[in-house]
Amino acid sequence: MTGSEIRKKFLQFFKERGHAIIPSASLVPENDPTVLFTTAGMHPLVPYLLGEPHPGGKRLASVQKCVRMQDIDEVGDNRHDTFFEMLGNWSLGDYFKKETIEWSFEFLTGKKWLGIPAEKIYVSVFAGDDDAPKDEESIRIWQELYGRAGIKATVADAKKPDIGSGARIYPYGKEKNWWGPAGETGPCGPDTEMFVDTGQRHDPSFGAACHPACDCGRFIEIWNDVFMEYRKTAQGKFEPLPQKNVDTGLGLERAAMILQKKEDIFSTDLFAPILDWIKKAAKNSDARAERIVADHVRTAVFMLADGVVPTNLDRGYILRRIIRRAVRYGRNLGFKSLELAGLVPVVIELYGDVYPELASQREKILNELKKEEKKFEQTLSRGLREFERLAESSSATEIISGKDAFNLFQSYGFPLEMTAELSRERGRGVDEKEFWKNFEEHQGKSRAAAGVFKGGLADHTAEVTRLHTATHLLHRALKNILGEHVTQKGSNITADRLRFDFSHPQKMTPDQIAEVEAMVNRVIQEDLPVRFEEMTPAEAKSTDAVGYFQDKYAQLGGNLKVYLVGNEQRGYFSKEICGGPHVTHTGELGSFKIVKEEAVAAGIRRIKAVVV
Ligand code: ALA
Repeated sequence: MTGSEIRKKFLQFFKERGHAIIPSASLVPENDPTVLFTTAGMHPLVPYLLGEPHPGGKRLASVQKCVRMQDIDEVGDNRHDTFFEMLGNWSLGDYFKKETIEWSFEFLTGKKWLGIPAEKIYVSVFAGDDDAPKDEESIRIWQELYGRAGIKATVADAKKPDIGSGARIYPYGKEKNWWGPAGETGPCGPDTEMFVDTGQRHDPSFGAACHPACDCGRFIEIWNDVFMEYRKTAQGKFEPLPQKNVDTGLGLERAAMILQKKEDIFSTDLFAPILDWIKKAAKNSDARAERIVADHVRTAVFMLADGVVPTNLDRGYILRRIIRRAVRYGRNLGFKSLELAGLVPVVIELYGDVYPELASQREKILNELKKEEKKFEQTLSRGLREFERLAESSSATEIISGKDAFNLFQSYGFPLEMTAELSRERGRGVDEKEFWKNFEEHQGKSRAAAGVFKGGLADHTAEVTRLHTATHLLHRALKNILGEHVTQKGSNITADRLRFDFSHPQKMTPDQIAEVEAMVNRVIQEDLPVRFEEMTPAEAKSTDAVGYFQDKYAQLGGNLKVYLVGNEQRGYFSKEICGGPHVTHTGELGSFKIVKEEAVAAGIRRIKAVVV
């Protein structure tokens, strides 16, 4: 069964069961500020999971493009990738556990559908803890379904999961069987996951006994049904939600691997043409490098098609890292300069039917990819030599210093993770904390030198405080209207006006200025609460609060203040890492007016605005 047949069958199955089919949203999340990229089918649906009515009704299904970076180091094994497609179905306060589980089982095992033999399927459920009870209801539903298939489904001992026990149903704790959005608060709940037994031998280096959630590779997790019945509050409590939702995700690549009887996702029809091209073009063969190049170029093509460009910030930094990593592994395979761009038409050919944005952005994708490779290439070999020198120098301590890592970044364009990876290959570490310290110092210096950023507040008077809050609203409104590429480049506030510098390639049109103004004024009229939460850098990062180079904070330790405008119920209008102070309600601002929009440097605009 081809990947395209699996997509079609999935949508048909849920259409027949009353679901509206919704298109894939962009990889750049529009409705969920808690993530940098769309990492699951539910991200575009967050407002609807929180209760807003969806125009498609209460039953939805989609094939959603997703990016997840947390497994980047695993890419190269049989089943991890950074881009993937998630097939999902949702109930917005409509059906719940019974229908969800029955349909999942029917779609996986039904002859008309995927036709996977029921005896190959194992499931996990939430084991229960102080916050929420064991998911007995899902256990009963599974036992009933297995029973109908002639399989006696016993429940494993949660403390000693072992496939040798003959159990079918495996209870695990929150770390495995609980799902919620990346943010600290919001809808969440227990889930039940389905695994397919590949029949491979257990690898004892992953533990004495094998079980479905063991990472040895014998079991492939294929589908996750999440029952969003709780809301996690800011106080860390789990309250029952008035509207109980279902959120599911079935991995297309993994389904294809199982149905096409392949040992890895890269041999499926969703990857094979890319791998074939790489194998033909490469001078050397190295399975892991080939898979990394295939995965990363595919991911980069999809990111570029959705408007992300390589930069040193946030999404742009992730894309830069992906492209540079692909180039580096491409070099190991013997690829010449710009040869990787030859993969772009292969990816477009393979996915263009389902994702027309790939073909329509073809030129842009090619140009940006080549531009980034050229940029990296200018310094790559010298950088690698420099790295080798550092790594081998007899005076080098065990770890590469943050200063040296920063120099590799600054002079040779090596993302920190690349230096860390090269170091790991040689059994060394990198002082990442010191890297970020250097980074921060440098940013401060170069901004001052460019005269773009003097920064800071003149004082803490009521006027300045109001303008300071207005700056946060302006920043968010600019991102909403012009795009997420807008980032703060500087800010200066006096008692009379705010000045805000930000990245944007063109002059704003009068309409855009009017829209930004209107959006800020709407938020002021709604009189939304403004408050802050103290978070660790990791927490702040996971909420995707806007802030001056977030990754930097992640390395510094200590708590940060994140200012939130709005409320949890309807979602926050703005989240920004900031020291304050701010007003307590947006209504205190009065009325917001942009008085000037002008250029300050190439690609950097300046707005002057007042509140009256
Ligand atoms: N949102 C759930 C997941 O990504 C279905 O696993």
